[in-house]
Amino acid sequence: MSFPEGFLWGGALAANQVEGAWNEGGKGPSVADVATYKPKTDVKDYAKHVHVSLDSIKEAIADQDDTMYPKRRGIDFYHHYKEDLALFAEMGFKVLRVSIAWTRLYPTGEETEPNEEGIRFYEDLFREMKRLNIEPLVTLHHYEPPLNLAMKYNGWTDRRVIEYFMRFATTCFERFTPWVKYWLNFNEVDSIIRHPYTTAGIIPELCDGNELQCCYQALHHQFVAAAKAAILLKEIRPDALMGCMVTKLTTYPRTCAPDDVAATQQKNLDNMFYSDVMVFGEYPRMKMKELAAKGIVLQIEEGDLDLLKKGVVDFVSFSYYMSMTESVDPNAERTPGNTVLGVKNPYLPSSEWGWQVDPVGLRISLIELYDRYRKPLFIVENGIGSRDVVEEDGSIHDPYRIDYFRSHFREMEKAIDAGVELMGYTSWAPIDLVSASTNQMSKRYGFIYVDQDDMGNGTLKRSRKDSFNWYKKVIATNGADMD
Ligand code: BG6
Repeated sequence: MSFPEGFLWGGALAANQVEGAWNEGGKGPSVADVATYKPKTDVKDYAKHVHVSLDSIKEAIADQDDTMYPKRRGIDFYHHYKEDLALFAEMGFKVLRVSIAWTRLYPTGEETEPNEEGIRFYEDLFREMKRLNIEPLVTLHHYEPPLNLAMKYNGWTDRRVIEYFMRFATTCFERFTPWVKYWLNFNEVDSIIRHPYTTAGIIPELCDGNELQCCYQALHHQFVAAAKAAILLKEIRPDALMGCMVTKLTTYPRTCAPDDVAATQQKNLDNMFYSDVMVFGEYPRMKMKELAAKGIVLQIEEGDLDLLKKGVVDFVSFSYYMSMTESVDPNAERTPGNTVLGVKNPYLPSSEWGWQVDPVGLRISLIELYDRYRKPLFIVENGIGSRDVVEEDGSIHDPYRIDYFRSHFREMEKAIDAGVELMGYTSWAPIDLVSASTNQMSKRYGFIYVDQDDMGNGTLKRSRKDSFNWYKKVIATNGADMD
């Protein structure tokens, strides 16, 4: 049997996409709470979806309603978590990835003492998970820095944010390590370049015309914070494990023309730069050259590079949804992926959102990452966004979702057979939730259907899709029966 004994099967969520209750329990607003649903924007144009301006933020702050701000309501996991955990337990989950909303613990990010009501929510959540034998895998920072830090400091561009974050991380480790052994620092830290506001609270207008400089400086601060957090975690719970989390955007050359191959190599190196820093504990020389050539000057304080060396991660986790191709031909046809626009691969089908479905690319990614890092890997996001139809009798038939997962699991098996150490797999997402990029509910990922539309209408009733029983069987047989 390919999947090792104790393989951690489960699902992944992010607080800002599920919890709702954005202004309950003492929670303060995060950048996700002002993310606007833009129904008139083409779903394939992620850049327009994630674009923010000071005016759009101010407009959102003035509007206390949640209709156009779906992350304020999520799927109301805050009040439904017991019911949802019971469904995950019914599927046999061994692990559930969740994130902690920073602003539930520190509403503005600047407080010196945490909000006890926020802590209680997560304690209750972890207690319930323990009762159901579901291991938590917890992301500290998943697209929801405090809005106050974005407005006041331009987010992570300001070094003081490291200190605020460490206050939050210390509270998480001190209060939650009795339940939590597996931690992730920053969700898709690489996405800072693609959507700086979501990932680091950076408001482009506050960057003095040099957004890239802001992004790399903020990234340096996140690397330092990640290293500090990894070191602190071991002091508080020596057997706990810290992972990095990156978007695996595996790219193939569109043709074997050497220029296409060279451009592709650059793309793949760019993509692995982030995990390189957190695994090897140092900046790659070639990246530093590239930044210098672009006129980007990093403020690196004394001691930072030592911290990066000491605070390396124990394992490498990543999201994988699709692959891309690259070409130097400016006329090559393009297609969107996970917040990227790449060259279309004529051999692959695409989802309705344009993301190219490529199970073999997952095997390639696993082998590439394991060969490069020699650290255990964890797939912490993988899945397909689709529109589901509820039949008159309430059933939901989603063979496309089963096909997607089955074909990816088969490639995981091959990678494991080839020698890759894979700790576990958490699907994105086991239950329908609000899309990170488009703020839609109708882009559904779950094995569990949630009765809510894009405008927030619906009963929030949870229903099992066909894929629910299929995944349950896969877990029960540890991947031996995928039919
Ligand atoms: C990942 C993010 O990049 O992609 C998730 O970590 C996100 O937060 C997922 O939900 C799928 O993207 P989307 O835009 O379809 O929600």
